[in-house]
Amino acid sequence: KVYNDYFFDEPVFDLHDGGYVPLEKADDVPDKPLNIPAALKPDKVDGNDVYYTITAQEGETQILPGAKTKTWGYNAALLGTTIVLKKGVHYHVHLVNKLTEVTTFHWHGLNVTGPIVDGGPHAPVYPGGSRDIDFTLDQPAQTDWIHPHPCPNTARQVWNGLAAAVVVTDDEEAKLPFPRNYGVDDIPVILQDRNYHDNQLDYKADYDMDGTEGKYALVNGTINGVFDVTTQKVRLRILNGSDRREWRLHFDDEHEFTQIASDGGTLPAPVKFTKLMLTCAERAEVIVDFGDKKPGDVVTLMTDNIPIMKFKIGEYAADNSVLPDKLTTIDAPEVTPGLPVTRTVMSGMDDQVRLDGKLFDMQRIDRKQKIGDTVLWDVVNTNDMDGGMIHPFHMHGCQFLVLSRNGKAPYPNEHGWKDTVGVNAGETVRIAVQFTKFGVYMYHCHILEHEDTGMMAQIEAYDPNEKHTYHLLSMDEM
Ligand code: C2O
Ligand code: CU
Ligand code: CU
Repeated sequence: KVYNDYFFDEPVFDLHDGGYVPLEKADDVPDKPLNIPAALKPDKVDGNDVYYTITAQEGETQILPGAKTKTWGYNAALLGTTIVLKKGVHYHVHLVNKLTEVTTFHWHGLNVTGPIVDGGPHAPVYPGGSRDIDFTLDQPAQTDWIHPHPCPNTARQVWNGLAAAVVVTDDEEAKLPFPRNYGVDDIPVILQDRNYHDNQLDYKADYDMDGTEGKYALVNGTINGVFDVTTQKVRLRILNGSDRREWRLHFDDEHEFTQIASDGGTLPAPVKFTKLMLTCAERAEVIVDFGDKKPGDVVTLMTDNIPIMKFKIGEYAADNSVLPDKLTTIDAPEVTPGLPVTRTVMSGMDDQVRLDGKLFDMQRIDRKQKIGDTVLWDVVNTNDMDGGMIHPFHMHGCQFLVLSRNGKAPYPNEHGWKDTVGVNAGETVRIAVQFTKFGVYMYHCHILEHEDTGMMAQIEAYDPNEKHTYHLLSMDEM
């Protein structure tokens, strides 16, 4: 079966929002090779210990014709080098801030302890300063990302360019017939939109409380990028890295593609699509089989009616590999008996956005959940303003399973691990949540301006056998 549906509720797509900035065809920008971020090289490898340095820095990038654009990135002028991690390895990461303002380094999707290693707002790295963290990677192969998380400047810092792909590998995924030659048949596709003013970013000028958008579509920081296809099958690690925009992806020829992974890794079974919508921070790994194309053909990836990048087909060897019907096993969650359902409510738009009726307070623990327990959460998006909007709900410190949407089955590509789920207006999404590591973790709307306004809360995952105290910073210490 091939699905031809975006599944989300069309009446609340971002394009119906008053502040929506339509993407425009960038006819003024010539095609150029798609930027493929380099893979970050370790500083040192010592048995099972691997050392990395990640530096948030300023740079300049040729984005539009003419003057270069001042941009920010991790070990790069824009976005960042791709960080490749392997399950079971102990990582030591030296985080360096060469910016002129405080930032944090958040591992979105990684199950590492909060609030420090995880890099949320309690883990500032001051200008000129650094911080050292370490963790053992103990989750399956997946595509994650790092981005800043300082309160309340996340949205602007991401807008300026900070975002890098994190590729997690493991031995189980390595056995599956997936393309995995990074940069050749396995590439990140980081989707963002921006505006430029005399070729420069100006976050304030473009700011919108419901999420800042720009008229240019960028993939990996490239406008009108072209990727040279040299293999029959290409794996795209698609990340919605936008502050606000939803991406409704399809090819110009309605070419089909197969989703093999969601946020938290391999799906139980591949799902075939011609259309795929991603809300902010969601990831989807898809395989596109260009076996029906010949050298010289061009296939264009679109969002709505806007071309965003091209795949130029070259010579390739036939690849007859077949995906198995079953990719991995994800057991139905065993919900801990006797616990109430946790209900969390996202409401409002603009300055009225709230999580459980409140604005974020860095020093308030909003909830507690025992580590090891599997708890049902009902994530509610009230439809109380102007028809409402989709809020992408994200949790730190765990990957959850989506059980239902308004009591009905989740979408066909939602049977794998997720850390971000788009919740339609008027909808309740039921998820099963388990924390395995004690700590304090954020959960929030991933429209970055909503997060910065305060549509965010924090939960303590506690260990009943050990009391931990946390030094929670206040906003003034940021
Ligand atoms: Cu990707 Cu708390 O964020
Ligand atoms: Cu996160
Ligand atoms: Cu929101």
